[in-house]
Amino acid sequence: MTRPLRSARWFGGHDLAGFIHRATLHAEGISRTALAGRPVIGICNSWSELVNCNLHFRGLAESVKRGVLLAGGVPLEFPTISLGENLMKPTSMLFRNLMAMDVEESIRAYPLDAVVLLGGCDKTVPAQLMGAASADVPAIMVTGGPAEPAVFRGRQLGAGTDLWHYADELRAGRMTRSEFDELEAAATPTVGHCNEMGTASSMTSVVEALGMCLSGTASIPAVDAARHRAAEATGRRAVELAVDGPRPSEVLTPAAFDNAITLLMALGGATNVVLHLLALAGRVGVPLSLVRFDELSRRTPVIANVRPSGEHLVEQLHHAGGVAALLKELAPLLDLTAPTVEGQALGELVERASVHDRDVILPLESPLAAEGGIAVLRGSLAPDGAIVKQSAATPALMRHRGPALVFEDVYDVQARIDEPALPVTPETVLVLRNSGPRGGPGMPEWGAIPVPKKLLRAGVTDVVRVSDARMSGTASGTVVLHVAPEAYAGGPLRAVRDGDPILLDVAARRLDLDVPEPEVRRRLEEVGPPTPRYARGWGALYADHVLQADTGCDLDFLRARPGEPAETEPYGLLSGWVGGW
Ligand code: FES
Repeated sequence: MTRPLRSARWFGGHDLAGFIHRATLHAEGISRTALAGRPVIGICNSWSELVNCNLHFRGLAESVKRGVLLAGGVPLEFPTISLGENLMKPTSMLFRNLMAMDVEESIRAYPLDAVVLLGGCDKTVPAQLMGAASADVPAIMVTGGPAEPAVFRGRQLGAGTDLWHYADELRAGRMTRSEFDELEAAATPTVGHCNEMGTASSMTSVVEALGMCLSGTASIPAVDAARHRAAEATGRRAVELAVDGPRPSEVLTPAAFDNAITLLMALGGATNVVLHLLALAGRVGVPLSLVRFDELSRRTPVIANVRPSGEHLVEQLHHAGGVAALLKELAPLLDLTAPTVEGQALGELVERASVHDRDVILPLESPLAAEGGIAVLRGSLAPDGAIVKQSAATPALMRHRGPALVFEDVYDVQARIDEPALPVTPETVLVLRNSGPRGGPGMPEWGAIPVPKKLLRAGVTDVVRVSDARMSGTASGTVVLHVAPEAYAGGPLRAVRDGDPILLDVAARRLDLDVPEPEVRRRLEEVGPPTPRYARGWGALYADHVLQADTGCDLDFLRARPGEPAETEPYGLLSGWVGGW
């Protein structure tokens, strides 16, 4: 359906406001002819020198602009804050919702008919999707693509997966400091996001399953010229979207979320994506809960042989046919009628794909694992839920009972984890608390507590770990995450004491604290509420409004309100109102 251009409300008027809006762009050398009736396409760029993964986005934005111009639109690039996974402290997740607000308000307040979202590093992609979903102006994403693999001693490395392995080797004394320095020098050879199925690659793959980017583009390597051609094509498509839609709310349907979750499970993808999809669904009013993740996980086999759940990197997945080929293999489990930003149903798009390497994309009938990568747990230790990445866990630990060894926070872990006298055995369950959305704050990726040196030296490579934190999508182990409610919000995790028996049963989807409930309540009363971490600023606003992990850690006032359509227009009047005069 052809829609009147939103930008015409800024540039079409024959009044003082129209004069000022047009004259503002004349200052950039853009003529009145250029603005006359042409769609204005915003390019929302998360480029930053503080975000190495997105450092090639200036070039990608130029390719998007070329596409926009070829299709007869006017491209206008704008920055937002950007979230660098490794440099932001305490965690980029503390700022995901802040970036989403920046994206949302920029889209809404400016004269844009459609938006191209340029995201790559972990939180930049969900933040842009969430912001664009709330603004509900037509939007399409082009992601940055995976970095080239590092090569260390003849082996291609995954950006995080292998680092965790070598870090343990160093701690166990099986690798020297100079070898570790050599690894550091080799670790990041190019721009692009992490190149195994960590959070970034899982999230960018999910964007394709959601129908929010061009089919076949998610896994194109960052340095491949094909990514620039994809950016050009995205710019062209954005101009069509400006006129005919669909809007994000028309693409982000319950079917799209089911497809995205199914893909996530088949990828053995990152646990972080669970949070991002829950939050995104909340932005468009799609009812989604952890229960649905578990239902879809139980029926979806892991068929992507990609690290950390499998063997290969995203580049090999791309050459094997990419996300589109994976979706084609998953077709019996998908809703192929789901609409996409391309204007075609998902099924029509994936029909064109084919699998080129059966060692990377396995047939549905002979998967890596019969069930999806992530299982949702519940029980007396996690009344509102917790998750475990079963595809990257140790099978022998999936049913386990052991005594708790409690760490109050990450500093406590740092101080004690490698103590020779640490009272730990292979049966111990390591518990970390005060690392959730409010306690972290921002739910840092501290959940993969290092295996104590004492155990590593004895040849133990995995123990059960439980926390209210998150975990890097590139990490592995029997790690229970996202325990809700978190300790800082008064969840039972706050009451656990050293030696308390903890029971994990992944098959039964249970996580229990074997301590009588009245005793748990008594202990919670005894310890009382924690002290707030922030008195002012973003931290205080975040702590007051952030929701728990089981709903995706969005701020309560940013979720869609039932029955209310998205607010697509600027707050206040356009015509007859002159900003700045
Ligand atoms: Fe940016 Fe991994 S650090 S995607």
